[in-house]
Amino acid sequence: MSFYLIASVAALGGLLFGYDTGVISGALIFIRDVMVLSTTMQGVVVAIALAGAAIGAGLAGHLSDRAGRRGVILGAGLLFIVAAVVSAVAQHVAVLLLGRFLVGLAIGIASMLTPLYLAEISPARERGAIVSLNQLCITIGILVSYLVGYALARATGGWRWMLALGAVPGIVLSIGMLVLPESPRWLAGHGRVLDAENVLRRLRGTTDVSQELATLRQDIAREDRKLASARELLSPRVRRPLIVGVGLAMFQQITGINTVIYFAPIIFQSAGLSSAATSILATAGVGAVNVIMTVVSIWLIDRLGRRQLLFWSLGGMAATLFVLSGAFLAGTSGALAWIAVISVAAYVGFFAIGLGPVFWLLIAEIFPLALRGRAMSLASVTNWGFNLIVAVTFLDLVGALGGAGAFVIYGVLSLAALAFVAAIVPETKGRSLEQIEAALDG
Ligand code: BGC
Repeated sequence: MSFYLIASVAALGGLLFGYDTGVISGALIFIRDVMVLSTTMQGVVVAIALAGAAIGAGLAGHLSDRAGRRGVILGAGLLFIVAAVVSAVAQHVAVLLLGRFLVGLAIGIASMLTPLYLAEISPARERGAIVSLNQLCITIGILVSYLVGYALARATGGWRWMLALGAVPGIVLSIGMLVLPESPRWLAGHGRVLDAENVLRRLRGTTDVSQELATLRQDIAREDRKLASARELLSPRVRRPLIVGVGLAMFQQITGINTVIYFAPIIFQSAGLSSAATSILATAGVGAVNVIMTVVSIWLIDRLGRRQLLFWSLGGMAATLFVLSGAFLAGTSGALAWIAVISVAAYVGFFAIGLGPVFWLLIAEIFPLALRGRAMSLASVTNWGFNLIVAVTFLDLVGALGGAGAFVIYGVLSLAALAFVAAIVPETKGRSLEQIEAALDG
């Protein structure tokens, strides 16, 4: 199996993350009628998966520091399958909620372990691009979920198929993880240097991996090879990476991306697009922009570096959010509705080029090996927690302040994120994980 095939199979975790978070918006319209759900109950169906994801992300780090990355990803793959089946056959809302909670757990685990695993198997010079395959798969998953939602909208019981289809990539991921190797960095960190060497040979397709192995060994000597205790998360040497990781986790969500991902058709209709069909089509267009700009980001990320991309991304997001807010302020006639659609698409494009991929990449890069899993867990839980908060407050926020007010808030928060990045986020381009660790330590 070539390195790229290995990376692609692992990145299926991202596809499931995207598909299963996106699919509910299309399915819910039907579930709501079949199961006679109140608005509150619909909110719970959406929110319970996000809460499950926060819990899954919280558990995955500790588990994977102890038991290895591979086995836990395999577990998530199996959970995706079970959860898809449970949700798809649900006759009662309680069973549906159980299914959505389980799918959330799996999403949470995959959301942090996919980038972690990819970072640990990648050579330094391409790490940005390889880890960002995860984000590319997330965006493809979201787009596919929109298209599947559209295609199955008229089929009887179509919503069951929408939820069931998540099992397919789950099956491929699970089978794949049976043959994929354990992370060489995890192996070395657990004293299994010979195994690590073999895996590196397999990944690099060459017998001479002495240089990479030597830096790994040095790093582990510095770590005095013990798995650090969780209390070390509070020690001064992890303080800066922790502030960076948790801060970016928060900013990735409170700058509003998921208001668009989850509610785009509603936003477009309230901006004045007259038909539901046009709104859904515009939403698919936004999904496509998300995928395309992520590809552009992958091409740039190891060339321009992480900080540059974050600057462009956040500056562009703030600008487009202010335009969007202006369009809402000006009223909702034909041309203005299209200004809204275009600024939403541009906003998503700017997110996709930087803040989307770079957050998941940086949290896989900046933490010391001995604490990597648990520290990434903390950042991911923060990310899912704010995802949940934004998702449940957005419609009320629009109700209280109007579209103009709500989007100004996300715009101002994007500027705050820009200042945060300028002040504290390190550049990690081209350096090995061990060099990054040594630099942040010093
Ligand atoms: C974020 C998700 C978001 C997705 C959109 C991810 O990086 O974590 O919350 O839905 O990007 O592409």
